Amino acid sequence: MEFKNLLLRKADGLGWITINRPDKLNALNHATLVELKNIFEELKNNDEVYSVIITGSGEKAFVAGADIAELNKLNMIEGKKIAEFGQSVFNTIENFEKPVIAAVNGFALGGGCELALACHFRVASENAKFGQPEVNLGIIPGYGGTQRLARLIGSGRAMEMILTGDMIDANEALRIGLVNKVFPASELQAKVFEIAQKINSKGQQAIRLAVKAVKAVDKMNLNEGLDFEAVLFGLCCGTEDFKEGTSAFLEKRKPAFKNK
Ligand code: COA
Repeated sequence: MEFKNLLLRKADGLGWITINRPDKLNALNHATLVELKNIFEELKNNDEVYSVIITGSGEKAFVAGADIAELNKLNMIEGKKIAEFGQSVFNTIENFEKPVIAAVNGFALGGGCELALACHFRVASENAKFGQPEVNLGIIPGYGGTQRLARLIGSGRAMEMILTGDMIDANEALRIGLVNKVFPASELQAKVFEIAQKINSKGQQAIRLAVKAVKAVDKMNLNEGLDFEAVLFGLCCGTEDFKEGTSAFLEKRKPAFKNK
């Protein structure tokens, strides 16, 4: 598949997606959103890719938001449609069965912050900046920001970010749980690679079921979630990886997972 606004590198069990419109600070125009949806379809069917990392091209931005030049032309009906489409792309990412990590390497604003929020977790460089500045443009977040930000950092903090439009820096994002780790910019790629390799070294059946189980927290109440967890735990017990992992422990050796 050919991509105009994205770069895809597949290596070492990883699919690296780079949003690649550096002259527009990687702003998400419609064409880029369509490519993002397609790239996840491709990665879903690629057995050599165990996990996915999303980052931005250049040193300045992860993604500086939805493309404001495109937004400027929307009417009411088109606005609703574009929000629904963006949400569907980000739902695809959130519901992706393999782990998806955001490596936030600069501005993550508006749709960029929402893209990071749709990933399963986030790490950032020291120069990263996060914000939902939509109110400055007379709009509200439309690609899931009002919902995912509030779920991740709490409604009070999300409300403040969304109502003021203020940016926060990487350390503040770390403090409030918006990102898991912060690294010097020059180390971000190597560190996120390390984290992804650790995940890739486990049995991938368990990894994928763990992603599914944790994501259920937004869809189920506690009792439903616990029932679901028990079912997925049972599924794990039917895998070859489970036999291998438990046997390897008992035999005091390293497991050799086959992801089956
Ligand atoms: N949509 C479209 N183009 C964007 C963009 C966006 N969200 N963000 C940046 N760009 C473009 C700029 O228009 C500029 O293009 P030009 O060189 O053709 O004029 C280029 O990217 C560089 O941006 P610039 O504003 O010159 O960089 P800066 O370092 O002065 O400022 C930001 C960086 C991120 C603070 C600033 O670009 C900004 O506020 N962007 C919009 C953020 C936003 O509101 N996002 C939410 C959208 S819903």
